[in-house]
Amino acid sequence: MSTLPLNATETTTDPLSLIDVDHVRFFVGNAKQAAFFYAMTFGFRIHQVADLTSGSRDRARYLLTQGNIRFILETPLDKNDPAAEELRCFGDGVKDVAFTVEDAEAAWKQAIANGGQSAYEPMTISDEHGSVTTAGIKAYGRAVHSFVSRTGAYAIDRVKQGSLFEPGYRTLDHLALNDYNAANPCGLMFVDHCVGNVDEGKMNEWVQWYEDVMGFAMFKHFDDADISTEHSALMSKVMASGNNLIKMPINEPAEGLKKSQIQEYLEWHDMTPGVQHLALRSNDALQSVAELRRRGVDFLRIPDAYYETVWDRVEKTLTDHGLEAVKEDYDRIAELGILVDADDEGYLLQLFTMPLQDRPTLFFEIICRRGSQSFGKGNFKALFEALELEQDRRGNL
Ligand SMILES: [Fe+2]
Repeated sequence: MSTLPLNATETTTDPLSLIDVDHVRFFVGNAKQAAFFYAMTFGFRIHQVADLTSGSRDRARYLLTQGNIRFILETPLDKNDPAAEELRCFGDGVKDVAFTVEDAEAAWKQAIANGGQSAYEPMTISDEHGSVTTAGIKAYGRAVHSFVSRTGAYAIDRVKQGSLFEPGYRTLDHLALNDYNAANPCGLMFVDHCVGNVDEGKMNEWVQWYEDVMGFAMFKHFDDADISTEHSALMSKVMASGNNLIKMPINEPAEGLKKSQIQEYLEWHDMTPGVQHLALRSNDALQSVAELRRRGVDFLRIPDAYYETVWDRVEKTLTDHGLEAVKEDYDRIAELGILVDADDEGYLLQLFTMPLQDRPTLFFEIICRRGSQSFGKGNFKALFEALELEQDRRGNL
C-alpha cells in the first residue's frame, strides 16, 4: 500500500494565485510596422507571428520578447472587429495585462464569483504539442485581465525558452534586427509595474475591485498633498498581487490650477480609463538608458535644476536609514537625465519615455531598484514639473 502524504489529495490552490505575467497585449493600427518600432527602439526580439501567412485570418499578432517580457502586438484585419472600433476611439495602446495561472477557467470563475465581470469566456486552442486556455475579465475602462493556462510545449517555461507562444504562431528567423539586438542588448528584464488611469473619484472603487476580485492588497499610499504641484495633481494607490509578482498603481486626476496629466490622458483616450504606463525593470539603468537613447528613444526631459538638489535629498534619506550611498556615477546619471529617489529600504533609478504613439497616452518607464520597493514618490514633483513643460509644448495645459 502506498503511503501518500495525508494532504496529497486535499491540497487546495488558490485559483487566483498568479504564476507570471503571461504577456501584455497591445491593440495597434499596424502590427507589422509597430513590431519594428519596438524592436528598433527598445531592443525587443521580433520572435513570432500569427497572421494570414500562418492561417490567422481575423487578426495579425506579433510576439515581441526581451528577458521575461512578452508583448503581443495585435491588429484587426476586419473593419467590423470590435478591436477596430477600439483603435478608432483610443489609438494604439494596451488592451490586456494577462497572467499565467494554473487553471485559467478556475481563475476566471473565481474572479466572477468575487464580483468580476467576464470579458470573454474560457477558450482552448490545442494541437498535438499542447494547449493554451484563456479567459478574460473586465478591468478599468478598456483594459482586461486574461488568465492563461498552458500545457505541453506551450507551458510558460517552454515559451520562455523559445517554444511557440500558442498554436498558430510561427517563429521569425533571419531578421537582421534580431541579431543586432542580441549583440546590443537594452537590458530590460520584466514588467515591474503597470499603471492605470481611471476617472476622477473612481480610484478607491478600483482599489476595492483589485482587492475583492483579484485578491490583491494595498501596497503603498500617496495622498494628494504628496504628489501635486501648483499646476497638476493626481491621486494614486498601489495594488500588489498576493506574491508581489506585479504591482498595479491606480491614478485618478485631482484638482489643480491647470489640467492634470491624468485628465489629459483621458481626454485623448475617449474619456475612457486605460493603462498609462508600463515600467520595465533593468538591473543597470545607466547601460539601458544609454543604449535606448542611442537607439532614438525619446525620454522625458528633466530640468537641469533637478540635479542641483537631488543628491542632498537622496543622500540624506540613505544616511538617515544607515543605507549605502548611490553607487552609480553622479555625473553620468545627470548626463543621461535619469531620476533618482530613495526611501527607508534603498534607492531607485527611473526614467520615463515620451508617449509611444502620436496621442499623449501610453508611455514606458525604465526602472532599476537598489533596495527601494517604492515608485519614486520624491520624484513626483520634479517629474510633474517636467511633464507640464511637455504638456505645455503640445498646447494642452
Ligand atoms: Fe511607474
